[in-house]
Amino acid sequence: MSELAAGSPAHNTREGETPLVEMTGMSKSFGGLHAVDRIDINLFPGEVVGILGHNGAGKTVLIKMLSGAIRRDSGTIRVNGEEAPINNPRDAKDYGIETIYQTLALADNVDAASNLFLGRELRTRWGTLDDAAMEAEARKVMGRLNPRFVRFKEPVIALSGGQRQSVAIARAIHFNAHVLIMDEPTAALGPQETAQVADLIKQLKAEGIGIFLISHDIHDVFDLADRLYVIKSGQVVGMASTKEVTKDEVLGMIILGKCPPNAVPGPGAIRD
Ligand SMILES: Nc1ncnc2c1ncn2[C@@H]1O[C@H](COP(=O)(O)OP(=O)(O)OP(=O)(O)O)[C@@H](O)[C@H]1O
Ligand SMILES: [Mg+2]
Repeated sequence: MSELAAGSPAHNTREGETPLVEMTGMSKSFGGLHAVDRIDINLFPGEVVGILGHNGAGKTVLIKMLSGAIRRDSGTIRVNGEEAPINNPRDAKDYGIETIYQTLALADNVDAASNLFLGRELRTRWGTLDDAAMEAEARKVMGRLNPRFVRFKEPVIALSGGQRQSVAIARAIHFNAHVLIMDEPTAALGPQETAQVADLIKQLKAEGIGIFLISHDIHDVFDLADRLYVIKSGQVVGMASTKEVTKDEVLGMIILGKCPPNAVPGPGAIRD
């Protein structure tokens, strides 16, 4: 497919296409600690990009700069090629960037539709809550994501982990997300529910949504991601197409900072 030599900077990227998100020179320090140190990373439409690295590598800080939850010290964010001055979560949402945190942040005691419209409720022309319209809309969105979901009348606390995840995803994408950030989406799930989330991710991909998948689970990343970045001590060790590297090589990137031949090395790669 790619005629570029492995190791060339454009290798594994879609040449000529404008990335959905492009972050360059992203940095954030806390006191003397370089939590994120000049990271370059991009994401194309319909692509799942895995972000891997040990505890404290800088994954969450990086992604929080994109979601506007943390203010960056330096760096540029472009969305569809245009500079996007993202300084708070509202800005990120305006650019169609939505984040699903591990905690999901659902309101446990109300149903799926109420969660979907939490804080953005639909109202009738008399100003009362339009429950019928919200449920109809919830059925439409959930039907697209998870056609087997039928438990619309129950509080979300009664749902399984995978179903709760689909409610959280529905809420994120319903308001026009183009970019979805998922921080450890399967960490608390069993195998069946993990499979359900995998189906959801495939569905979103097919709709052209770009996904950053932050995960400790190298198997999840290999199953779901098109490309991956490994971060170590705030720097990119390397970027690779998932198909062109082995799990052992990726473990070597995570643990040793060693960049294999089929990956594009970043500033954090050790030289041997
Ligand atoms: N608000 C903060 N104040 C000070 N230091 C912070 C803050 N947030 C993160 N850090 C530090 O920045 C570094 C990167 O943290 P980050 O949370 O991005 O790691 P991570 O890769 O997401 O790890 P994990 O896999 O454990 O979630 C760590 O050393 C962390 O202690
Ligand atoms: Mg984290």
